[in-house]
Amino acid sequence: MRRKLFAGNWKMNLGPNEARALIAELRRELDPQAAHLSRDRDILVAPPFISIPAAAQALAGSSILLGAQNAHFEDQGAFTGEIAPTMLKAFGVSHVILGHSERRHIFGESDELIGKRVAGVIAKRLNAILCVGETLNERDRGATLEVVLRQLQNGLSAVKPEDSKRVIVAYEPVWAIGTGRTATPEQAQEVHAALRESLRDHFGRQPADEIPLLYGGSVTPENVEALIAKPDIDGALVGGASLKAASFAAIVRAGRPTE
Ligand code: PGA
Repeated sequence: MRRKLFAGNWKMNLGPNEARALIAELRRELDPQAAHLSRDRDILVAPPFISIPAAAQALAGSSILLGAQNAHFEDQGAFTGEIAPTMLKAFGVSHVILGHSERRHIFGESDELIGKRVAGVIAKRLNAILCVGETLNERDRGATLEVVLRQLQNGLSAVKPEDSKRVIVAYEPVWAIGTGRTATPEQAQEVHAALRESLRDHFGRQPADEIPLLYGGSVTPENVEALIAKPDIDGALVGGASLKAASFAAIVRAGRPTE
């Protein structure tokens, strides 16, 4: 049985004080159920870099994991504006989101650069959450699978089979991010199944079948159940709805096994 993952991508929101406050609220919501929830799922928050130290403190003793929204592939050097994987690890970061569509489309990160970042964080024993997703234009011209499979293959090109356990993939259609327009569970499952097949080619069947495939793009407490009911959707990468404790906690509890 694959573990599920529910990850909150805070993007460029919440400074250190706000991060502390949201985590305190989240813990009030989720800590009482932590033992139950942790049976089949992980919960993660990914604050902006500057809020990571405060978030780490606020998470002490919690089972909620700490993530970052990017990382460089080298561990030190002349890379103005970048953060190294070991700097993140020093604060207890376990996962790094890479290749988010905002990194690709606003900041021009290429498949090649993203592949180097993925390999760099995995080399430092961090988990990579590789994001892939097509634009509306690409979907409309029938290029969805071609685009996401190219992003997947380039993103993982330097990852060795023995490191498959450090890989998580998030399918986030660009047209669904922050738009209130979610992919239907069927649309998402179709892409997830293709991603799974490609992962089997890369890592072999059994390792690929253990990789969590997240859906992201306007996930809410209302639509998450139907999404994760699909066989290849193993959780969610949540933007807007992760900024409020009540909505993120409701998403995290989705489809949980009954007592
Ligand atoms: P959203 O963002 O939930 O606000 O659509 C998702 C993401 O970009 O990871």
